[in-house]
Amino acid sequence: MNEMSPTRSEREAKLEGMGCSRRRTEDARFIQGKGNYVDDLKLPGMLFGDFVRSPYAHARIKKIDVSKAAALPGVKAVLTANELKPVKLDWMPTLAGDVQAVLAGDKVLFQNQEVAFVIAEDRYIAADAVELVEVEYEDLPVLVDPFKAMDPKAPVLREDIKDKTEGAHGKRKHWNHIFTWEIGDKAGTDTALNSAEVKVKELISYQRVHPSPLETCACVASMDKVRGELTVWGTFQAPHVVRTVAALLSGITEQKIHVIAPDIGGGFGNKVGVYPGYVCAIVGSIVLGQPIKWVEDRMENLSATAFARDYHMTTELAATKDGRITGLKVHVLADHGAFDACADPSKWPAGFFNIVTGSYDIPVAHVAVDGVYTNKAPGGVAYRCSFRVTEAAYCIERAIDVLAKKLKMDPAELRLKNLIRAEQFPYKSALGWEYDSGNYHAALRKAMETVGYQKLREEQRQKREAFKRGETRELMGIGVSFFTEIVGAGPTKNCDILGIGMFDSCEIRVHPTGAVIARLGTKSQGQGHETTYGQIIATELGIPADSITVEEGNTDTAPYGLGTYGSRSTPVSGAATAMAARKIKAKAQKIAAHLLEVSENDLEWDIDGFRVKGLPERTKSMKEIAWAAYNNVPPGLEHGLEAVNYYDPPNMTYPFGAYICVCDVDADTGFTKIRRFYALDDCGTRINPMIIEGQVHGGLTEAFGIAMGQEIRYDETGNVMTASFMDYFMPTAVETPVWETDFTVTPSPHHPIGAKGVGESPNVGGVPAFSNAVNDAFAHLDIGHIQMPHDGWRTWMAAKQAGLHK
Ligand code: CDP
Repeated sequence: MNEMSPTRSEREAKLEGMGCSRRRTEDARFIQGKGNYVDDLKLPGMLFGDFVRSPYAHARIKKIDVSKAAALPGVKAVLTANELKPVKLDWMPTLAGDVQAVLAGDKVLFQNQEVAFVIAEDRYIAADAVELVEVEYEDLPVLVDPFKAMDPKAPVLREDIKDKTEGAHGKRKHWNHIFTWEIGDKAGTDTALNSAEVKVKELISYQRVHPSPLETCACVASMDKVRGELTVWGTFQAPHVVRTVAALLSGITEQKIHVIAPDIGGGFGNKVGVYPGYVCAIVGSIVLGQPIKWVEDRMENLSATAFARDYHMTTELAATKDGRITGLKVHVLADHGAFDACADPSKWPAGFFNIVTGSYDIPVAHVAVDGVYTNKAPGGVAYRCSFRVTEAAYCIERAIDVLAKKLKMDPAELRLKNLIRAEQFPYKSALGWEYDSGNYHAALRKAMETVGYQKLREEQRQKREAFKRGETRELMGIGVSFFTEIVGAGPTKNCDILGIGMFDSCEIRVHPTGAVIARLGTKSQGQGHETTYGQIIATELGIPADSITVEEGNTDTAPYGLGTYGSRSTPVSGAATAMAARKIKAKAQKIAAHLLEVSENDLEWDIDGFRVKGLPERTKSMKEIAWAAYNNVPPGLEHGLEAVNYYDPPNMTYPFGAYICVCDVDADTGFTKIRRFYALDDCGTRINPMIIEGQVHGGLTEAFGIAMGQEIRYDETGNVMTASFMDYFMPTAVETPVWETDFTVTPSPHHPIGAKGVGESPNVGGVPAFSNAVNDAFAHLDIGHIQMPHDGWRTWMAAKQAGLHK
């Protein structure tokens, strides 16, 4: 090697491959305001749509008079259910096997439900015309409380399916019942509970919240009547699925539908489903032959598009006196709102809630979930989590603390006693999952040592004494959470959406100069995919990441994919990317052997090319091989250097983490100050440590919002009380605590690069850590589980209940 040649580490560094904190390539446009979002799109002749929405939560529609609105200059059309009926689009299928009214025909079922769609020359005229549509309603009794949904006298909500005794997921027990989903060993769990030395039972509710991304949902539909082609730009987390649904609903053949998801300003599950706005814009454009834009405002987003959670979990744990958990039983009452529009894989009506045994070696468990209708907005999406995993993690992590209190044991000690041990992996849980890898004890011990857990407990003991003596009015809480996520849906054998298996894909093309374009079926909404997929390819192919362009979101160019949600991008598409690169590498090896006139087996890979074994000076770089692929390939081999991979993961991946939160609660104001928050995450092989840290910061901030203040609340007549950021807590930099992040690395044995997902872990693990901290502040007092969100009022009430306001 000549002295001026770059060293191995210089060659490696030049690639900016896996493990490198490479700067986000997409930020160059984002921080300069040069992103291209749906609302940036302006097409010639573009019209604007706006909805007439119901002020009532439950009412019969007696009459709709659109004449005044239609007569307003600039109004092009007003759609009601009557206009949609002839084309059979007044109802649409939901991802959960139910149907949802696109525009309400006979009655409305939740406040702000879509009743009519006004199309006008600009959005101001459309908004004025909305005010001119006259709707006569006759109000009906409103059902808000899910616990009353199946009362014998409960009002009938869904008249369209009132007499159906079978739903998409089996028998229905009542006109407001959607499904019952059960899993586990009921008899065995009952025996464990009946014979337990110690038992606890608690109703643990996870309130209704909303993903509320910065950018609301939007689309532009443009029908080219001459070519018979429909193009839809939209805030879609899963563009290919939207294309298939649009083809099935519209009758336009799928190759003539072009779905494009441009830059997206956050999704968090909110942008997975199909909303009436998309259908109405498409129908309007087909009818009028002009492009139609629909962009919802913040109030519409918070009150009408997909909510998350609303799970009410009656949880029982059985244990021995010394703290060995012997059984877990959970009954969930799931409030799905007016239509079952949950975004779960088809066969999983309660998502992957059966991860509720969490990180613990629990011998027997049983879960039953009852889904019910209420007069609230539909949804039930995976808000920055895999399907219903946040609910499950919250349930078990709160229950562990409730048990610790009953046993008078330290909650961290109780966890250490029951965590699945490293040698038990792969671990089969009582509710059917096979956890791939983990070293839970090492992670929790590292977390405890880093924060000085024992010292914190001692400080808490002293503070409690000081409180008793009247020297302070602050209560100190320490919240521990140890979570296991289940991400990467999923094996197609048990996960599909509308019958399409949940594989994912990547197509890579290496151009003659060694530059690369990679196209994927996923869609970043801020996670930095353009940066990180490039890093996987850089390491696999020895091509600098800067020479690699990553493109997502265009159904014409990307191979079919199921989209980005549930932290599935890295586990599924990240794997597809590595596998597609490996196909290219295998062909490159043949070309290199041909160029070097040796056998393929005489070659070995070396950072950015191949070298002859034992003759390190005889090399061919990937750049040289790429050029040869277009002019000098071995006889019998095709020209070109490209590959596509459709990856069907053999299993999900199971990232995990240990979080510790320290807070101080003011007993007189109920205000909780988060003093410290430490988050240790293990997502297997780390592709980009800086992006992981960013993902953790963002997820923790959302967890903070949820745990400490967010709730989509309804009054007894079904009015949404929290439909703006005045009432719905959205943390800003002012309220957000400082985050300390840390990690361990336990690669996934079945993923080609050993990576697990991470984007959602901090939300899953963060919420119970905050909630456990606030509850822990009161753990020495005679007060039960305090429900989220832990806003000032609720916490003040808890202090009052605990007798601290005398
Ligand atoms: O599906 P989604 O992109 O929301 O979640 P993810 O797969 O957890 O990835 C979020 C971001 O973190 C992506 O840019 C990943 O490439 C990155 N990541 C990483 O650098 N290393 C991992 N082990 C997992 C994710």
